[in-house]
Amino acid sequence: MTVLVVGAGVIGCAIALELARAGCRVTLLERAVPGAEASGAAAGMLAPLGEGAPTAFRELALASWRLYPELVRELRERTGVDVEYVTRGTLYPLFTAEAVRQARAQATGALAAELGVELLDAAAVRACEPAITPAACGALFVRGDHWVNNERLVVAWAQAAVAAGVRLRTGTTVHRIEVDGDRARGVLADGERLAADAVVLAAGAWCGALAASFGGALPVAPRRGQMVALAHVPPLVGHCLHGEEVYLVPRPAGELLVGATVERAGFERAVTAEGVLGLLRAALALVPALASRPITRTWCGFRPWAPDDLPILGPWPGIEGLWVATAHFRNGILLAPITGRLMAEWITRGRPSLPLEPFLPDRFVGAERSWTRTS
Ligand code: FAD
Ligand code: GLY
Repeated sequence: MTVLVVGAGVIGCAIALELARAGCRVTLLERAVPGAEASGAAAGMLAPLGEGAPTAFRELALASWRLYPELVRELRERTGVDVEYVTRGTLYPLFTAEAVRQARAQATGALAAELGVELLDAAAVRACEPAITPAACGALFVRGDHWVNNERLVVAWAQAAVAAGVRLRTGTTVHRIEVDGDRARGVLADGERLAADAVVLAAGAWCGALAASFGGALPVAPRRGQMVALAHVPPLVGHCLHGEEVYLVPRPAGELLVGATVERAGFERAVTAEGVLGLLRAALALVPALASRPITRTWCGFRPWAPDDLPILGPWPGIEGLWVATAHFRNGILLAPITGRLMAEWITRGRPSLPLEPFLPDRFVGAERSWTRTS
């Protein structure tokens, strides 16, 4: 089977690699370079409890999280790239006795045991992170929250895909998905017609535009995330710290990532005064000693978002050979391994090994729904 995958973010790279492994002849089409958009802009946290994500997300997130240790090992073996997989865990600081009381329930049960969730008192928080504000009267510690360097990850994934036989075409923009009646035939890319048995839309926040190219509609919109990095030598923070308004991710190579805004700003590629101010204010409230650290870089990226906050995965209803994998919103780095695996199973064997009903494109495509929140 020949397959065209559009977009070389983590999602497109993961799908392309798994399809090649399953014996498909795969071409991965990327208008820029792998990781040029959200996948390169992310913070790289692998946090399966999610950022207020709906429950349907949980099982998928856990399944993907479980695949990471093996993925990281394999990418290093196949490409020599170390993706800086850090397994020290995240502290979610708590600031009131009521918050501590409510957090107690989250530290019990099978899920808490698998993820290593513990409730820390104020003294334990201080012992763990001496630079944290004394206002923290406790914290939920999730030992199983891990993180990677997502820029390295996407490059390694693309390289592994190429090593497995994927033809990667960078600098190639897909302008149209070619649909003939009820069948996808291929794509038009920079004036060239490319034919295939199957086409996978994995172009992140741009999947809506690709759908429009054949007269389809998909309510995927960008949610801008601004980020700031601070010099972090010597380190002040050893774990990931996740507050209500900000998270701090210590990278092994001497940077502390401060993220992130979640904004409806269309595709306006801008780091704003308000965005940076808000992030730094919240970061300093959490770790006051960061005040003197130099800012090393700022950037932004466009998370692909759907109106119910869930990914869109599966076959395009009514068009044979057309597939979608997008809208991973705040968790695409985490969800990429399972997305690659399930999409490849579905395309090559006719069904995925996990139930994916909540994620089907059918919930939007052709449905009588109002998508008023998609701007
Ligand atoms: P993208 O990475 O955006 O890739 C889409 C690709 O398609 C791009 O490379 C683009 O150039 C290409 N493309 C678009 N149109 C075309 C076309 N017409 N022709 C050819 N190519 C095209 N997730 C986590 O799990 N953990 C985190 O800590 C985390 N932090 C984040 C922080 C920020 C600031 C942001 C912005 C996102 C974060 N995310 C995080 C979310 C995660 O980055 C995304 O969900 C994920 O990267 C989406 O991957 P993707 O491959 O679908 O999209
Ligand atoms: N998951 C981190 C973010 O979306 O900012």
